[in-house]
Amino acid sequence: MTEKNFYITTPIYYPSGKLHIGSAYTTIACDVLARYKRLMGYDVFYLTGLDEHGQKIQTKAAEAGITPQEYVDGMADEVKKLWELLDISYDKFIRTTDDYHETVVAEVFERLLAQDDIYLGEYSGWYSVSDEEFFTESQLEEVFRDEAGKVTGGIAPSGHEVEWVSEESYFLRLSKYANRLVAFFKERPDFIQPDGRMNEIVKNFIEPGLEDLAVSRTSFTWGVPVPSNPKHVVYVWIDALLNYATALGYGQVNHANFDKFWNGTVFHMVGKDILRFHSIYWPILLMMLDLPLPERLIAHGWFVMKDGKMSKSKGNVVYPDMLVERYGLDPLRYYLMRSLPVGSDGTFTPEDYVGRINYELANDLGNLLNRTVAMVNKYFDGQVPTYAENVTAFDADLAQVAAEAIAEYHKQMDAVDYPRALEAVWTLIARTNKYIDETAPWLLAKDEDKRSELAAVMSHLVASLRVVAHLIEPFMMTTSAAILEQLGMEKANSLENLALADLPADLRVVTKGQPIFPRLEMDEEIAYIKEQMAAGKPVVEKEWKPEEVELTLNRKEIKFDDFEKVEIRVAEVKEVKKVEGSDKLLQFRLDAGDKEDRQILSGIAKYYPNEQELVGKKVQIVANLKPRKMMGHISQGMILSAEHGDSVTLLTVDASVPNGSVIG
Ligand code: MSP
Repeated sequence: MTEKNFYITTPIYYPSGKLHIGSAYTTIACDVLARYKRLMGYDVFYLTGLDEHGQKIQTKAAEAGITPQEYVDGMADEVKKLWELLDISYDKFIRTTDDYHETVVAEVFERLLAQDDIYLGEYSGWYSVSDEEFFTESQLEEVFRDEAGKVTGGIAPSGHEVEWVSEESYFLRLSKYANRLVAFFKERPDFIQPDGRMNEIVKNFIEPGLEDLAVSRTSFTWGVPVPSNPKHVVYVWIDALLNYATALGYGQVNHANFDKFWNGTVFHMVGKDILRFHSIYWPILLMMLDLPLPERLIAHGWFVMKDGKMSKSKGNVVYPDMLVERYGLDPLRYYLMRSLPVGSDGTFTPEDYVGRINYELANDLGNLLNRTVAMVNKYFDGQVPTYAENVTAFDADLAQVAAEAIAEYHKQMDAVDYPRALEAVWTLIARTNKYIDETAPWLLAKDEDKRSELAAVMSHLVASLRVVAHLIEPFMMTTSAAILEQLGMEKANSLENLALADLPADLRVVTKGQPIFPRLEMDEEIAYIKEQMAAGKPVVEKEWKPEEVELTLNRKEIKFDDFEKVEIRVAEVKEVKKVEGSDKLLQFRLDAGDKEDRQILSGIAKYYPNEQELVGKKVQIVANLKPRKMMGHISQGMILSAEHGDSVTLLTVDASVPNGSVIG
């Protein structure tokens, strides 16, 4: 019973901004798998949703001046609309703010606390709010230090800034389960796909020693409160991972779906950046809860742009709705699935996007259909001849290529390698186009004796397109249906046992086939996509109006007359020395344009341990300050310096400014 139950999940997305083609990629990839498995006779449950708690969301809502709940409600509507536009066949859309989910998360937390898999401790570390993740110093991409070399901050691998956070926290006893996890990895070497990722996880995170994980926060409130200590909210990743179980009814009265699908085949698809959470924390959580572990974790790479990661500030973000509105849905689904190689990143370029539509969709596939429909109309009045094997010299080869393509397609779909699965289909398309050239139907048509050969060619072309239409169905539903409609046949409803020779009898093609893909003006469309990408770049909306600027002052405002009283001049440092008995004061001899040099004492010794470097520098002094004595020495003015935080710097001027020049 369990064998044909298939559960597929996307990560639940942070609704912290409009979703771009990256999130669309994962969601379409899971949709393709869900549709493929349904066509292979599986009972499928496809889950997607939103990860709505956490500090980032709380901040975003505050920025928008609304409550977090209002904020996520709005985003959830938008995301659902997007999935509708992309024709995503999900069975459930979970939101971590759903009541049933929050209840189970709180219960699970208390259960783990009771069984001592969670305990209370203290956490300090570098925290990135955007990633909702702590980092050790060595994990940081860049480290900021003060003059004394002390680390004051840094940048996480994601490019976000981190801050030092120290708080009381609950911890999940990962360390206790490390050995069990390693044993599980050994027993199930294909748990993580593609191969090789598991080794990275073991090497980077398990071998160095698996530390217990901080699983609660007190620094913000937008989350599931810990029932027995509500100033803590459950760490967003624990909350989020549990969605895969709660969505099916785990811990709830109605848990039929959980029993059915969690005991079937469970696949999680995730981006490489969140593999650690899914390959370590999630299996361990499941062990703690005595639940079976998933069958597979599929980790994919990222869609990046020529100039690196997609980011609004770079003006290189591509949104799926823009592409769908302009070119239709199927090209987007095709492009995303065909272009991201398994196990590595892929680069999105407008050139590639438009190119694939023109060459692979409009040319290779669209033309094949057009020519076929036109020829069946021309030579057989629209009636498709009955399929017969081995009539022309090329039939056997076409049949073999078709059989190989079908087998390869299934193999690659099982491996969730879409670029290769589609490549297999396009091998058949290319072979079929070549078959037209080889058999030259326009010549066969001139010879009445070649009528049966011409008939065989037509039926082979239709048969091949029939196979293609079925194989592409999980990827391009509209195109698949359009091809079958133009060929006058029904959809098979199953991809099992698909074969070239199984062409139904008595088919009639449409009288006039419409092109299934538009042919695009390359330059124009490339320019259009680039324009749209650049349009997403945030503009500085507010005009600078100096009269509206609110100044920050450290002291009271003064009148110009008050300032006029102060005489500031340029003075050259002739000599400088430490004042005996003081570790603060330096004693300067300065040429300020007077007949004779003057002496000023300044409390900056700490900031200039090599005070001799100041000799020859031109500084700014207040020249008309009443002289006073300091540590028994006369001080005839004050040297100006800039203070910021703990640092102090003397204000120097260019060497070309004569001594005694008045500053004002
Ligand atoms: N909320 C967590 C997931 C919790 S799952 C229990 C999260 N959300 S996310 O919105 O930041 O990312 C969701 C997914 O989108 C990740 O798998 C991530 O890898 C993927 N992608 C984000 N940008 C991407 C690209 N540019 N390309 C492909 N996938 C990308 O992490």
